[in-house]
Amino acid sequence: PVLVVDYGAQYAQLIARRVREAGVYSEIVPHSMSTEKILAKDPAAIILSGGPSSVYADGAPAGDIALFEAGVPVFGICYGFQLMAHTLGGTVAQTGLSEFGATTATVCAEDSSFLTGTPDSQNVWMSHGDSVSHAPEGFDVLAKTPGAEVAAFVDTKRKFGGVQWHPEVKHSDYGQVALENFLFNVAGLEKTWSTGNIIDEQVAKIREQVGDDLVICALSGGVDSSVAAALVHKAVGDQLTCFFIDHGLLREGEREQVEQDYASTMGIKVVTIDESERFLGALEGITEPEAKRKAIGREFIRSFEDAQRKLIAEAGVEGADIKFLVQGTLYPDVVESGGGEGAANIKSHHNVGGLPEDLKFELVEPLRTLFKDEVRAIGRELGVPEKIVARQPFPGPGLGIRVIGEVNKHNLDVLRAADAIAREELTAAGMDEEIWQCPVVLLAGVRSVGVQGDGRTYGHPIVLRPVSSEDAMTADWTRMPYDVLAKISNRITNEVREVNRVVLDVTSKPPGTIEWE
Ligand code: XMP
Repeated sequence: PVLVVDYGAQYAQLIARRVREAGVYSEIVPHSMSTEKILAKDPAAIILSGGPSSVYADGAPAGDIALFEAGVPVFGICYGFQLMAHTLGGTVAQTGLSEFGATTATVCAEDSSFLTGTPDSQNVWMSHGDSVSHAPEGFDVLAKTPGAEVAAFVDTKRKFGGVQWHPEVKHSDYGQVALENFLFNVAGLEKTWSTGNIIDEQVAKIREQVGDDLVICALSGGVDSSVAAALVHKAVGDQLTCFFIDHGLLREGEREQVEQDYASTMGIKVVTIDESERFLGALEGITEPEAKRKAIGREFIRSFEDAQRKLIAEAGVEGADIKFLVQGTLYPDVVESGGGEGAANIKSHHNVGGLPEDLKFELVEPLRTLFKDEVRAIGRELGVPEKIVARQPFPGPGLGIRVIGEVNKHNLDVLRAADAIAREELTAAGMDEEIWQCPVVLLAGVRSVGVQGDGRTYGHPIVLRPVSSEDAMTADWTRMPYDVLAKISNRITNEVREVNRVVLDVTSKPPGTIEWE
């Protein structure tokens, strides 16, 4: 793989994604990993990411000369670029000039190496204080910017290169070209990573792991669990049974849609289990968000265990057991929970309320190394219907964390009706692509006075929370057209009794989270 050494920049995942877009498998490793361990992973190339620190700052991650003596191509980005210069004997100076945001890089070498095919003057995106004033011996300076005399360099003999700017962000117009030039022309790598390869590789892996045993999957109807199930189904066919647990916290029409889509279009065995009474019973009287999540998680596991017992009984085999559980864990979940070395670490966020660590299953996680866009591409190639592949995220605990206050049938019905209207109007207005997701929230514990017809009302507010995001880690509220908002507000207040006010959430994340609970 190409290893991206993460120096604490928020860009490391983005770099890995860009490398994969180029057709080369890439993984992230923390900068605290020793050079020995990094090299033991047999990297085809190493990319040093950006980072917040100056190479001269106290406690700044240091460079290790051994990393540069292993004969492995290295590319440095921003902090990684300076670290490389510093470690190899160049000079990093505090010029007093910093550059943040867009600037222009000028190519200043005759042989422009990995900048070949990019214009002499190009937009790049910067974020640095110090800058490299002298390149180390053996390096050619390729470009400069107003704030950096040395903004790109290369040593083609040793296959080292780097840029002061961030080639991984879209604001650097030719960033991807530079990165690909380095990987293919300077480092001499080849394209080996494609959706077809991923599918073949994962299918083989799943077959080897599962053998003839039975596998189950808790299907949520979302992109990740659907594509994971489709992959496992391709690998082991009807050894896979999916359970779709209707916890009574679904949106209108959701259950019917899931039942239809999986059985008919994908040929996957899905058993729907109606557990709404069990969940509503468990949620009675609970208003505290974490308590809700825990209750939902607990009931989820119980339902799941019951479903398993039934399946085993049906199989009619003495002593039969189900050993494997499919999970749609993605690479960002793995990275964020600490790098993914060793045992499976199930985040409470990723699953419905968090499955317990002592689950008796062995996990099958075919998406563990993939980014969301790769998962979507694979889903499409596997024939997962577009409406599932393009679906917006919906949290496992469902509407349970969107009723602020007590979750009961009545409140859920009110929210479901309002949510259906909002979704219908957003789709009609063509907003689905622009919006990452739009939680619709019922403030069940809040009432306000209104007037309808000639009468006074004392109803509940509905909150619209449309957000734009790339990965849900950060988000901004979507600037929606007023007339779409007006239509939604009108319809909800007219059609949903009990709701007499619609409000818009204009908070970014951070400080607000996307969901209200
Ligand atoms: P927050 O509210 O933390 O949400 O900004 C980030 C993203 O995660 C979704 N979300 C969940 N997904 N189980 C899930 O599968 C959960 O418990 C859960 N909680 C939040 C949320 O919808 C958003 O996309």
